[in-house]
Amino acid sequence: MTAPAAIQFTEADPEAIAGFAGRVTVLVDSDGKLSPLTRRVNRLTRGAVERCVAGAAFAALKPGDALDLAYPAGLAAEAVQVLKLDRRAGADEARRAGATIGAKRPEGGNLVLAGPHPRAHELSFGLALRDYDFADHKTAAPKAKGPVTLMVSKPEEVAAAAGPLAALAEGVFFTRDLVNEPANVLTTDDFAARLAAMQELGLEVEILEEEDLAELGMGALLGVGQGSESPSKVVVMQWMGGEKDAAPLALVGKGVVFDTGGISIKPAGGMEDMTMDMGGAGTVSGVMRTLALRKAKANVVGLVGLVENMPDGRAQRPGDVVVSMKGDTVEVINTDAEGRLVLADVLWYAQERFKPAGIVDLATLTGAIIIALGHEHTGVFSNNDAFCDSFLAAAKAEGEGAWRMPLGDAYDKMLKSRVADMKNVGGRPGGSITAAQFIQRFIKPEVPWIHLDIAGTASVKSDLPLSPKGATGWGVMALNRLVMDKYETK
Ligand code: BES
Ligand code: MN
Ligand code: ZN
Repeated sequence: MTAPAAIQFTEADPEAIAGFAGRVTVLVDSDGKLSPLTRRVNRLTRGAVERCVAGAAFAALKPGDALDLAYPAGLAAEAVQVLKLDRRAGADEARRAGATIGAKRPEGGNLVLAGPHPRAHELSFGLALRDYDFADHKTAAPKAKGPVTLMVSKPEEVAAAAGPLAALAEGVFFTRDLVNEPANVLTTDDFAARLAAMQELGLEVEILEEEDLAELGMGALLGVGQGSESPSKVVVMQWMGGEKDAAPLALVGKGVVFDTGGISIKPAGGMEDMTMDMGGAGTVSGVMRTLALRKAKANVVGLVGLVENMPDGRAQRPGDVVVSMKGDTVEVINTDAEGRLVLADVLWYAQERFKPAGIVDLATLTGAIIIALGHEHTGVFSNNDAFCDSFLAAAKAEGEGAWRMPLGDAYDKMLKSRVADMKNVGGRPGGSITAAQFIQRFIKPEVPWIHLDIAGTASVKSDLPLSPKGATGWGVMALNRLVMDKYETK
């Protein structure tokens, strides 16, 4: 990514407004009430802000949206951005308002007159999220963007409230960078090296290599990676910031750095999108980064299975039978249903080693979830209503779409195999559900479990309110909140 927006909080200084040459953003309530700093801009522009607010275009604005007044007389500014945001706006609305600023950053810098707005920190967070730009592989110099200054009533207080949100933004950006990265750059080795570098933040990071995985009996995971030149790996990240003996929350991610489908090869059209097939692992990594950066008082372990699914002389074939770490055998009907094979072994290992209080897996698992829910909601599957409800509440609070899907015996039966304990596909009907059923076979019944199918939400083809197109970082905010609300000692 290009360098994130440099955001400063300064004391309100009415004298500094007239001479500022970049863009001046003013906040206006939907009832048209102007804050003191906005009134100052209005006076300097001889009523231009008031005329704008009285017009139909302002009335039609959604909260968080803005109108631009170009080259306003009375100010040195290149534009005044009139942003609709209520004094009583919630976090979500304030973030969207910030994102409106972040979506189009002026070269000359931005002065945001937030004044006493109680959500100024959330506004700065939304600004940062939307400002993200993945330009690492563009040779042209990125377009210059000036600094952002928020004039606020209590700069120290706002800066303090913005601290944990900056850690959250960094986690989201880490996830987005991983998901946006092409597969010739983000190999399994490169991915593992980026995670190992997080030891600097105080995370404990271990890398299990193919020999280790073979010794553990991870035949399902190893089968997926055996056609690739890149070695399969499992990376274990531990953040033990909570009470000494408290059982951790475990986060497990599918990290298929590229999914060709293997011998059951995918069609050429759109195959390039499968660079994002490590999205689950990317989200787990971003959450772990955030928890370390904000020194969360919770025990959380993150495990990712890193493999590449390639067709090759050594690749696994349809019809092969593999033995999972759990001991169950799987008939591989379709080598393109590889994510569940990876998760089966990493989930089993996570439960055996860490005895977690709860386990959440994330995976770009099925195209079928996109048919069911589009790109608006992640598919949520769970064996525990209370655990599931706390996750859904966290996702809702963070504005991340999540929708619960059913599980049941009838779906599980669709995985019956003639030759092995199960097969890896259940047919086209309910494809996301049979995938979840497969995974549930590797969850101990007493462990509260949530499976998140993020195939539709990890990466999108058009801009979102808080994210430019491409990787979204979906789930980092919701999981960070779940940790705050349910696992953190205050
Ligand atoms: N990685 C894909 C799922 C996917 C599809 C992710 C589209 C993101 C966007 C997964 O490994 C896969 O290929 N699933 C198959 C399963 C099928 C063979 C049972 C699918 O969805 O077609
Ligand atoms: Mn696949
Ligand atoms: Zn896949």
